[in-house]
Amino acid sequence: MKPENISQLPPYYAPFADAPLRILQISDCHLYANPGRCLAGLNTQSTFDAVLDLIEQEFGSTDLILATGDLVHDASPQGYARLRERLEQMASPVYCLPGNHDSPAVMSQTLNRGKVQMLEMVQLQNWLIVMLDSTVPGREGGHLGAAQLEILEHQLQQNIHCHALICLHHHPLPINSAWMDRMVLDNPTVFFQIIDRFAQVKGILFGHIHQEYMSWWKQVQLLGVPSTCIQFTPQLDQFNLDRVPPGLRWLELHPDGSIETGVRRLSAMPTKLDLSVAGY
Ligand SMILES: [Fe+2]
Repeated sequence: MKPENISQLPPYYAPFADAPLRILQISDCHLYANPGRCLAGLNTQSTFDAVLDLIEQEFGSTDLILATGDLVHDASPQGYARLRERLEQMASPVYCLPGNHDSPAVMSQTLNRGKVQMLEMVQLQNWLIVMLDSTVPGREGGHLGAAQLEILEHQLQQNIHCHALICLHHHPLPINSAWMDRMVLDNPTVFFQIIDRFAQVKGILFGHIHQEYMSWWKQVQLLGVPSTCIQFTPQLDQFNLDRVPPGLRWLELHPDGSIETGVRRLSAMPTKLDLSVAGY
């Protein structure tokens, strides 16, 4: 509920901002230096392009696109350059964070121009979006180091009147999938101790798991997203490719702090998925 005395409102609490923020999440694009390369039989460049085409056709201009890691499988400058060129054509700004397959250094050198940026935070209307780096060099699993935890705490403290959406690559809690849960965030306790101190946190958004996912941590919604290329079968203890099309997550962040969200997928399964591969 909005305070009645408008003069007491912080400047970003615009009284006309009744419309929700419209945000899209894409993740785990796994592009390569060579645009012809495939992952488990799928050409990751063409499935990425198809998901962006779907965005342009069905969502048009949104407030923001969030790209939550594993954007370039081989962490190549060529892969990031092509990613940036394609995202630059989108109608919305794109904020990116790294995943375990990315190189944060190469990524920040190649992205970070025009509308494609790596930023710690963005504040829109009465929402704060925090982008964290959960990667550890040479490791597949996730960890939030002291500097990242400090960013999280500092941004929440500095924007105490904003609702908050926290983004990172790794799933912060197990998803009942043993092989994937070996690559979960390894220090969730300290992460959720911070989250618990700030009631304005409404959602935690992540990639990495290549599947649609939703659960709760107390009042905080935990949301995972399909990859723009290959999908993993939920609730299995071994690696298994799921025969569902690539997709994206849409979110509407309302001024009252509520989140509406869903997943939208390509209408058809890309051909040539190689179900015999044993890993990625
Ligand atoms: Fe990942």
